[in-house]
Amino acid sequence: MARAKSDSGAGTEATELSEAEIAVHWKEEEYFPPPASFAAQANLKDPKVMDRFALTKFPECYREFGEMLTWDQPWTTTFDGSNAPFYKWFVGGKLNASVNCLDRHLAQYRNKAAFIFVAENEEEPSVPITYQELWVRVNEMAALLRDEARLKTGDRVTIHLPMTPELPITMLACARLGIVHSVVFGGFSGESAGRRAADSGSRVLVTMDGYYRNGKFTDHKPGADAAVAIAKAEGQTVDTVLVWQRHPGKYLSQAKLVDGRDKVVNELLPKYRRKTVEPVSMPAEAPLFLMYTSGTTGRPKGCQHATGGYLAYVTATSKWIQDIHPTDVYWCMADIGWITGHSYIVYGPLALAATSVLYEGIPTFPDPGRPWRIAERLGVNIFHTSPTAIRQLRKLGPEEPTKYDLKFKTMTTVGEPIEPEAWRWYFTKVGKGKAAITDTWWQTETGGFLCTTKPGLDRMKPGSAGPPMPGIHPKILDENGHEVPVGSNKAGNIVIQSPWPGLMSTIWGDAERYKKTYFQKYNTKPASHDWRDWPYFAGDGALLAPDGYYRILGRIDDVINVAGHRLGTKELESACLTVPEIAEAAVVPVTDEVKGRVPEVYVSLKPGFTASPEIEKKVAHAIETEIGKIARPKVVRIVPDMPKTRSGKIMRRVLASISNTMDVGDVTTLSNPDVVEQIRVLVQGKAKVVTKTAPEDIKKFGQAE
Ligand code: PRX
Repeated sequence: MARAKSDSGAGTEATELSEAEIAVHWKEEEYFPPPASFAAQANLKDPKVMDRFALTKFPECYREFGEMLTWDQPWTTTFDGSNAPFYKWFVGGKLNASVNCLDRHLAQYRNKAAFIFVAENEEEPSVPITYQELWVRVNEMAALLRDEARLKTGDRVTIHLPMTPELPITMLACARLGIVHSVVFGGFSGESAGRRAADSGSRVLVTMDGYYRNGKFTDHKPGADAAVAIAKAEGQTVDTVLVWQRHPGKYLSQAKLVDGRDKVVNELLPKYRRKTVEPVSMPAEAPLFLMYTSGTTGRPKGCQHATGGYLAYVTATSKWIQDIHPTDVYWCMADIGWITGHSYIVYGPLALAATSVLYEGIPTFPDPGRPWRIAERLGVNIFHTSPTAIRQLRKLGPEEPTKYDLKFKTMTTVGEPIEPEAWRWYFTKVGKGKAAITDTWWQTETGGFLCTTKPGLDRMKPGSAGPPMPGIHPKILDENGHEVPVGSNKAGNIVIQSPWPGLMSTIWGDAERYKKTYFQKYNTKPASHDWRDWPYFAGDGALLAPDGYYRILGRIDDVINVAGHRLGTKELESACLTVPEIAEAAVVPVTDEVKGRVPEVYVSLKPGFTASPEIEKKVAHAIETEIGKIARPKVVRIVPDMPKTRSGKIMRRVLASISNTMDVGDVTTLSNPDVVEQIRVLVQGKAKVVTKTAPEDIKKFGQAE
């Protein structure tokens, strides 16, 4: 197999590689067998599982997933593909998600912790919440949502809460009533929440006064006021704002409560003590929630997930890949505000009666030993986090994990590619060489894992997500729809040939966009209603090795993966344009040692304005306000003009090359080629530096333009 010269991406020497070979910037890695102690107790032990889920067994193979749930009414049709690519799973079946996560466990696990809440402040004792108590609190909140906010089945509610138990309580209370929740990551700004509230048509917003992050109390309620204003500007009235208190009984926000609109949940709850709410039996295809994610165009898309298919898929993947048994203490260090938290902190683990740890703060507060102290203290034996967190913890406290008695049987990574070096640290220092590691590739749209090793069966290979999940049938296609030969070392676009129950049902309110974004690219028969004609286009570049392992290279669209979170470049650019002095903006990804990628911003000014640090600050501030701190740019650069094609399109690819010290390529056909050198000097200084070690997604960035 051909090898790239610069493995691990660390070298800076220029490599002479053809486009086809460029993909392999990590060399093939050694295999690690699954630890025998793990394999012996694994939920998934059947070596023939891939045969059971062969394409020829589609769709009935998925009965097995549906059967992991408790149904009020059994389904009659496992899969309805008659309106491809809009699919329905477990048709005719009825169920309630909160019943599956709570009620059905009460007989056996009433007194077991469903969640253990760990506040960021280490002096605050951790709080276990049993299945019984969670059931009580969810019922009380459901009664409050119904009576106080006048919500009913099918309504949408925007939830903008931090990582405290009130978040899953509110989600499950919605699920109990068949209300569609739309959780917006707590770190997103109020403006972001407002735009999502408008798109989903939410008249109720649930928020909290504040929470702790990096040692400070963050005042969160002002975001709700901004959200209501933005939603109104977009034509959606939010008439009720429900405000939880971080410390019940104390309202700690500086923002005033608005009469008639804002209601403090903790003050109202005593009225609902001991109230129970009959769970609403929902059709399997009824939406359980929306989760907004960024795409190529400016407006985030509301991915709509169905009650039955989604819940079945996250339950099965939690059981087989996370290997959750009811006796396990499981900790996923993600935020519930992202899909990882929905699937693998709340719905999957609770459906399996696990104990799921909920941590409020950042991993490195007050020091990089914190996650390991939490894990040791609570006896966590399944751990789940992102490569960014791993890189950060390794950088700041490489020996910290060795100081604690950690006993992980399995550990997961998610959200971005993990470098083999970081993987090895995770395996040896955190897992002590005894844990099975799964590198799980999937997306907001896909509900649950698509590619990962099966921890009790497959060998691990650092840097590769691995084979597909049973039932997932990927292919790597080139731009013309031809399959890229296995082992050719060529990257292509990864598609999934057949549907699966976790796949979103549609984009909220925009079915056309759903079809166009995810299925149009490789469809040759637009009138067809056969799922075989509609491969799912994931938007990721990937490579298939001869051993059947997939290596995911990154986004091929205008999305930047920052610390495992998706940010649309167009969203950032429109935030820049809210600054009056800015004429044009272009956002490009730059590699970052810890976060993987960070956005770098280029702006040009309207006539009559001169560049100044104040304008740069205003741009950075606008991004934080419009989107949130997570999108903070690495640097804002004011340039004399943007490099443009003759038809006036901004060449982001050229800017990305300059920011990443890559060769800018041929720019002679641009309408203003001279500006490229001016910008290069501005960014890199006079001496020409070309390192060419940027990863595939950056090499390809903006090429579609
Ligand atoms: O580019 C892929 C990357 O994250 C994108 C999905 O982001 P999001 O919808 O926010 O969901 C994140 C959590 C599932 C994908 O298109 N990605 C996700 N997991 C991996 C990954 N890239 C490489 N390896 C992974 N394990």
